[in-house]
Amino acid sequence: MDTPNVLLTGFGNVGRAFVRLMHEKRELCRKTYDLDLRLRGVFKTNGGLFAGEDSDLFGIEELSSSDCLAHSAWKTGLRCKDLFSQLKPGVLVECTPTNIHTGEPGLSYIRKALEAGWHIAAASKGALVVDFKNLKEMAKKAGVCLKYSAATAAALPTLDVGLYSLAGTEILGIEGILTGTANYILSRMEHGISFQDALKEAQARGIAEPDPSLDIDGWDTASKILLISNSVAGTDFELKDIPCEGIRNLTPADILAAREEGKSLKLVGWVIREVGSMRAEVRVAAIDQAHPLGRLAGTQKGITFYTDTMGQVTVAGGKSDPRGTAATLLKDIINIFR
Ligand SMILES: NC(=O)c1ccc[n+]([C@@H]2O[C@H](COP(=O)([O-])OP(=O)(O)OC[C@H]3O[C@@H](n4cnc5c(N)ncnc54)[C@H](OP(=O)(O)O)[C@@H]3O)[C@@H](O)[C@H]2O)c1
Repeated sequence: MDTPNVLLTGFGNVGRAFVRLMHEKRELCRKTYDLDLRLRGVFKTNGGLFAGEDSDLFGIEELSSSDCLAHSAWKTGLRCKDLFSQLKPGVLVECTPTNIHTGEPGLSYIRKALEAGWHIAAASKGALVVDFKNLKEMAKKAGVCLKYSAATAAALPTLDVGLYSLAGTEILGIEGILTGTANYILSRMEHGISFQDALKEAQARGIAEPDPSLDIDGWDTASKILLISNSVAGTDFELKDIPCEGIRNLTPADILAAREEGKSLKLVGWVIREVGSMRAEVRVAAIDQAHPLGRLAGTQKGITFYTDTMGQVTVAGGKSDPRGTAATLLKDIINIFR
């Protein structure tokens, strides 16, 4: 039985859901995968909890239903970066907020973890968007896995399909509806609701963040298409290479005009092969309702790969919430230790 140490950075919606799921799926992981994950540390902005190699978890059940600040072992000022070398290397589960400009705080955590020989399962996108090539090289050099399914549309399998199911093909193009929040707003606007009202509704339902700009201005989609394309299509995009349009200025009249032509307006991330190069962009497009992506409603996401030998392959669906994201982190960890 593998008993890898787990350190968790970020204990918000996703971090907490991950701890809950680890608890819930413990027996299944033991029985089906011979895997018994040992949570050794949980870290927030100003401190954390840390158990040594020999002590067991801090009562994972108790932790999953509480805030670790209230835990008797909470230590203000405790920093994850100082602790990687104190444990046998396992997996860092990175769930801190995404900053696509600096990559921090995840970037420092991931670099430190890789230097110490830890595998990575990341939900945050920032570090990978800012320093993709370098982090991949660091992981390769250290002989560890750098997994980030949870940062690339989470429960919708994008990387697994591109890297495993389409291995040996040439990727000729990619198009993806990758931001559930934007698709939800556009779906609601199809019912005649204004952008502002649809956004307010999404925020009230916990679908949109209090600051929804990454999602509605297209940068969340741009970050995901960058990571997917660089991973499966051999590109080397940086965020500055991806022209990006959002959905802020759309009106219900725009949506209805598309509908009258049998199309739906969608926020799409594209990768397009041109003579000798690949180009990526994010823009609003009128998609035929007969296209598999044209039918996606609400928070649904989907991706179509165009290949030379396997034709057009579309995957769609997957939950867009912290539990679905936590399950994606667990999936990556299971696959690391298989
Ligand atoms: N929500 C989703 O469904 C979803 C889906 C896919 C990907 N993601 C990504 O997953 C990540 C986490 O999302 P979330 O919804 O869980 O965010 P969240 O609720 O805001 O939680 C973020 C957590 O990170 C902690 N944190 C902030 N700065 C830190 C630092 N310097 N060191 C250690 N911990 C720090 C926060 O601690 P404090 O409470 O002390 O500030 C908080 O516990 C984000 O990068 C997001 O883009 C989320």
